[in-house]
Amino acid sequence: MDVEKDFANDTIRNRNIFDYLLLKSSENAAKLLKLIYFSEAVKANADPVLMRLFVLLEYGFDCSTEGEIRLALKSGADPKKIIFAHTIKVRKALKYASSVGVDLMTFDCKEELLKINQDFPTARLILRLKSESKKSVYNLNKKFGCDLSEVENLLLRAKNLNLNVVGVSFHVGALCESSETFVSAIENSRLVFSLAERHGFKFTILDIGSGFFGSKEKESFFYELTQEIKTSLEKNFPTEDIEIIAEPGCYCVASAFSLVTSIIGKKSIAQNGNNGLQKEYYLNDGFYGSFPYFYKDYDVKHVPLLKNKDRVKPIIETSTVAGAQMNNSAVADEEQTIALQ
Ligand SMILES: Cc1ncc(COP(=O)(O)O)c(C=O)c1O
Repeated sequence: MDVEKDFANDTIRNRNIFDYLLLKSSENAAKLLKLIYFSEAVKANADPVLMRLFVLLEYGFDCSTEGEIRLALKSGADPKKIIFAHTIKVRKALKYASSVGVDLMTFDCKEELLKINQDFPTARLILRLKSESKKSVYNLNKKFGCDLSEVENLLLRAKNLNLNVVGVSFHVGALCESSETFVSAIENSRLVFSLAERHGFKFTILDIGSGFFGSKEKESFFYELTQEIKTSLEKNFPTEDIEIIAEPGCYCVASAFSLVTSIIGKKSIAQNGNNGLQKEYYLNDGFYGSFPYFYKDYDVKHVPLLKNKDRVKPIIETSTVAGAQMNNSAVADEEQTIALQ
């Protein structure tokens, strides 16, 4: 395994696309956050080469479906380093998790406790707490997590069922620019740890979710954020011997790939009687492919193929870029002014 790991690291280091990823994910972030382990969110990118890379880097995996667990295991993941992090699980998936020893999972309601009690009563459970989603592009807390006010009842219910609750998780929402949101979620988690202790539970895991950006432009913010998180962890969990997990998705994979699409055709549209003043460019990709309607919210970096010096004489035209589908809404971007030769 060590030989394989060295080989993979050497090979990967020589490939530009992974340099940045490795630098950020393994050295920088792990040091800054002093986390016990990172659990890469498979939903962010399930590419088999990336998954294998994360196994070699000894990351864990945050899986939300049976399919993702299967993929992680196929990539060589240790079942003990997989967290089944969907709070509402398909029963068949619960049984599958039980059969392969993936026993760490989240819940946020009593109904899920009843399901787990029937299908996997020995699982180690993490209570997902709602957090604020201030300054996050995607709020995951409308759908997932319980309120602080519900925690005690849920703990009592778990106790009644003799279930093993071992920790707390939260997710501040994807692409979060507020360190206060993390700090407040850590403080709430502290309250839950204390409450659990009063009810006889011994909590050992705090899962701080994610919400980290993946682009280089946000690296200084990431640095500041990790300092705030570290300080808050030290303040709220000064003595406990606890395992801290983060589940970065975008952070780990945003820089790993470049998307290239082709222009498969173009049209010159007559505008005010002048032919050729407006152009339509048709791509072989679109909203139903790599450009979902929210793609502009992500910290995607546009890389021009032609450098300025190579452009002999740029012509600026008002243009429309259209997606691939036979559908009016499959327009990748309307009324973009682009410089093309
Ligand atoms: C439970 C959980 N963990 C981790 C992630 C990854 O989050 P991010 O993309 O902010 O890194 C998500 C994203 O939806 C999630 O739902």
